[in-house]
Amino acid sequence: MCPRDSAGRPIISGHADVVMAATNPTLFSNAVSNHLQIPNGLDGIEHRAFRGIIDPFFTAEKLAPLASGLEDLATELLNGLVQTQDSFDAVSDLGARYSVRAQSLWLGWSPAYEDELLQWVEDNRAATRSGDRSQTAEVAERFDQIIHALLDERRVNVTPEAPRDVTEELMSVQTADGKTLTDEQLVSILRNWTGGDLSSVALCVGVVVHWLATHPAHRDHIIAASDEQLDRIIDEILRLDDPFVSNRRIATRETEVNGCPVHQGEQVVLDWRRANRDSEVITDEASFDPDGHAAANLVYGNGPHVCPGRPLATLELRVLVRALLNVGHVSLDESESPVREEAPVAGYRSLKVRVTQI
Ligand code: HEM
Repeated sequence: MCPRDSAGRPIISGHADVVMAATNPTLFSNAVSNHLQIPNGLDGIEHRAFRGIIDPFFTAEKLAPLASGLEDLATELLNGLVQTQDSFDAVSDLGARYSVRAQSLWLGWSPAYEDELLQWVEDNRAATRSGDRSQTAEVAERFDQIIHALLDERRVNVTPEAPRDVTEELMSVQTADGKTLTDEQLVSILRNWTGGDLSSVALCVGVVVHWLATHPAHRDHIIAASDEQLDRIIDEILRLDDPFVSNRRIATRETEVNGCPVHQGEQVVLDWRRANRDSEVITDEASFDPDGHAAANLVYGNGPHVCPGRPLATLELRVLVRALLNVGHVSLDESESPVREEAPVAGYRSLKVRVTQI
């Protein structure tokens, strides 16, 4: 059988096939949208040039100073929730708020934007669920306006020699031809950093908190884990229930994947979620094996478009898990059943949990 999604696009879901498509950009191009998407929508030399600009923002060295600020904000947010509410929603109260605050801290954005960004995350999730193009276009436009406002605020006094935060640093970057990035390029880059970050981190938090609440026997082992071990544990939790379902590519010529025809110019779906549970490649795919499954884990993609934000996402999630376990014991609020998200995303739409303080 050759599976297709509701829009008629072939779904590539075998682990080996997904890796083949993701690592073969001459056959499966990223030029799936008419909108400028840096770097997501680019291929080849142009894509590499932008990754050369973007990737240095995510090195361990560059992100290290962020850790203590993230620890403070995670602890403060959790204490506030635990002390004022009997139970709270791990996705909207914790995940979304944490991702907005973490991102604002990283980019140097004023807390004044928090409510607007939170509303945007909510509306963006609803628009994505609806599949309604005019709704998604309106939400995307609103986000561009927020970013334009943030850039305009700074434009008056950017000093290339001494950028005050990551946003100003990006505004000061010089491309190969010695120019700074245009507004259109800046907005596109920031949209892909922040749009992806806010929604995916919030959904990842839901999946991870659900797992912690339903696997209390792992608590001591996780608390004692090194950063590296904890990162693998979180990656494995996300592999088992990957909230970042899929990405698209466009076939540049007639081809075949796993015996199924793919026509030139046809869009295909790379299904990370199913590939992450493919028993052909991942032995005992439903079991929890952070070390054994690490090499095949596709939560952050593969190939030239592999997620540049992985070190930031990993840091944010690790800090939050440590803070949560530090504050108390997490369990599901049995009075309200978890609500799962719908395609094209996964994870939880709502997940009520309690934290019993130690
Ligand atoms: C929270 C968990 C996250 C997950 C699960 C995730 C997952 C992914 C995946 C699977 C891809 C590959 C897309 C493809 O091949 O078409 C990707 C790409 C990307 N991610 Fe993430 N991501 C996360 C967080 C972040 C963060 C925090 C940032 C930036 C702040 C970010 C920025 C990007 C960008 C810009 C790309 C496109 C890269 C390219 O096309 O070269 N992501 N992400």
